Amino acid sequence: MPNLKSYTGLEVHWGSSEEMDAVEDNSVQSVICSPPYWNLKDYGHDEQIGTSDESYDRYHDRMQKVWSECYDKLADNGSMWIVVDTVMDKGDLQLLPYHIAERAQEVGFILQDLITWYKPTAIAGMTERNVVNKKEYIVYLSKNKKHKFREERGENSSEDPAVENNHRLGNLWRHPVKRGSIGTNVLHKAPYPISLINRLVQVSTNEGDVVLDPFFGSGTTAYSALELGRKCIGYELNEEFESVIRERLTPIQQRSLAEF
Ligand SMILES: C[S@@+](CC[C@H](N)C(=O)[O-])C[C@H]1O[C@@H](n2cnc3c(N)ncnc32)[C@H](O)[C@@H]1O
Repeated sequence: MPNLKSYTGLEVHWGSSEEMDAVEDNSVQSVICSPPYWNLKDYGHDEQIGTSDESYDRYHDRMQKVWSECYDKLADNGSMWIVVDTVMDKGDLQLLPYHIAERAQEVGFILQDLITWYKPTAIAGMTERNVVNKKEYIVYLSKNKKHKFREERGENSSEDPAVENNHRLGNLWRHPVKRGSIGTNVLHKAPYPISLINRLVQVSTNEGDVVLDPFFGSGTTAYSALELGRKCIGYELNEEFESVIRERLTPIQQRSLAEF
């Protein structure tokens, strides 16, 4: 498998995205990520944001540092898209997407919308909810009121309530989730679907633009960005993801070498 450094247009930094000094200010067109949730999953790293011994406020303080860094790295017409859901805390629903939106607004972002990602194939989870949760949110923010937004019209119109008969994109997006892990590595079992990230990349960037993912994980954002001719920068704490990412991106690398 090729070394990550050999991927054209890809830059992965192993460290916390609370400080992204390696990225030039105003150089990123779009930030796309799914953050670590508060008190939910241990990714096995001391510096991880959202572990069970961290208070809800402390979690948001640290996340706000990341949003502030993202703000600085974004171009003036850039946007940020955070895929995140509410979480159950001892029977109480925490409105995580709303609180993330508020913290991002505090550092200067403009809240454009909370898009609903409808997951028709989602099944009942482990938490005690009377209704099955079939959605997540996408917190859609921009650095300034005027920002790059490329409309898709007509594509998937019969399947997707977000795009009906050449009308403008709606804020209810249907993207089924596939269960299971990526490749042979079980380190990461819950990445977001490529179809969803493709839409975000296409709506918010042009070919050649830079996409930043401050919580890189298995590299779904990079897969989509590179496939669509964009560049991608990622920050990830956990170096154990390297082999998963390499396995994941190999088809793209092979395709671009064949085209070359
Ligand atoms: C929900 S996962 C991201 C999944 C990713 N979108 C994918 O396609 O696999 C969140 C990731 O954030 C990472 N993480 C947690 N704290 C971090 C920090 N301070 N800086 C960078 N990454 C961090 C975790 O290791 C985990 O991989």
